[in-house]
Amino acid sequence: MNQLDPKTHLLEHSEAKLKLYDTYLAKYLNILARTPYVERIFVFDLLCGEGILRENAKGSPIMALETIKDHYYSNNRSCPNITVWFNDIGQSEIEHGVLKIDRVKRFGEKIYRPQNVNVEFFQEDYESIYPKAVQLVNSTYRAKGLFFIDPYGYKAIKPEDIRNMLEGNNTEVLLWLPASFMYRFANSVTRSDFKGGEPLREFIFSLFGSNPPTFKSVYDFIEQITGSFRAYLRELGIFVDTFTLERGGGNVYSLFFFTSHIKGYETMLATKWDMDENRGKGHTIDKTLSFSEIQLSAYPQKLMAFIASTEYRTNAEIYKFGLENGFLPKHTNNVLRKWKKEGRCELISLDGQPVRGNHIEYNSSRRVGFKVKQNL
Ligand SMILES: C[S@@+](CC[C@H](N)C(=O)[O-])C[C@H]1O[C@@H](n2cnc3c(N)ncnc32)[C@H](O)[C@@H]1O
Repeated sequence: MNQLDPKTHLLEHSEAKLKLYDTYLAKYLNILARTPYVERIFVFDLLCGEGILRENAKGSPIMALETIKDHYYSNNRSCPNITVWFNDIGQSEIEHGVLKIDRVKRFGEKIYRPQNVNVEFFQEDYESIYPKAVQLVNSTYRAKGLFFIDPYGYKAIKPEDIRNMLEGNNTEVLLWLPASFMYRFANSVTRSDFKGGEPLREFIFSLFGSNPPTFKSVYDFIEQITGSFRAYLRELGIFVDTFTLERGGGNVYSLFFFTSHIKGYETMLATKWDMDENRGKGHTIDKTLSFSEIQLSAYPQKLMAFIASTEYRTNAEIYKFGLENGFLPKHTNNVLRKWKKEGRCELISLDGQPVRGNHIEYNSSRRVGFKVKQNL
């Protein structure tokens, strides 16, 4: 069987990965365009690739430029001020003697760009360019930034770098990691004859210390990495989530998502749910329950236990709890509505105004309490 080269062909998992990035970017622009105190959005694709792969498949830079263009046309020919950086150090694998970044520039210039959108192209080492990107977003008045980090392997990726990107509290990071390639050697990092390479050892040591746990499977590996990223970034108030794709041959890839903003986190979850509802063939998406599966999951029980553990829980607490457990406000609302009908749960006003809805939403102007009347 002919193996396609992942460097020049868009493989199925990459397609799903790019769809996720693209869907997220569209939602991100929509939300930030309506946020009054945001004056500039930065999008940094610092390992941006070829622009267009073989068979005319679009890579992340072209997708991003098209998403910005679509945003502009579907918002009455307007869009926020945006600065996009594309960076790639490599030589094209498709066009001999041409830099990848020059291809991105050439294809990118054909896409309509609103006047207040700047696009810049670089051919630098990721390690030297990302601090400049961080510095730029942190020194720009009322700015927000999105980093899309899509390496071939994991050698260039260090947890400290991710932390540096997030430290200003105004950025989000989408980091793509080849989980099964990392897991293959992850349990032997402490051995003297370790074959996985220094970057993997450093990656694991910086998250778990020099005595890392045993990973039982690739999914356990992803879960433990996610947990330790959460602990590592806790003091910065960062939410961490993952999205896992499995490709034929058991290769598992995972997108790690980091944000300091709960609304950004909700947006990422909404993107995951969207992807799951339109689940394509060729990859399975782990840990993303489809809506009908909620009933089968333990979420209602967990939510009930959360509310019952104290006198009452506020709508703001329940909003956050739902997200932290991977569920959107619409899912939580469905559970609460059912309980109200069944007389299991009672709503109380905490702000003196009459209570009608649940108000499970970001930054709600209402304060509502939920009390358990009859446990599940
Ligand atoms: C997986 S590809 C990116 C694919 C791209 N997102 C797309 O959609 O087509 C990773 C890219 O990182 C580039 N790269 C690898 N190491 C780099 C480094 N240290 N600095 C800058 N670019 C690097 C490679 O040339 C390669 O094009």
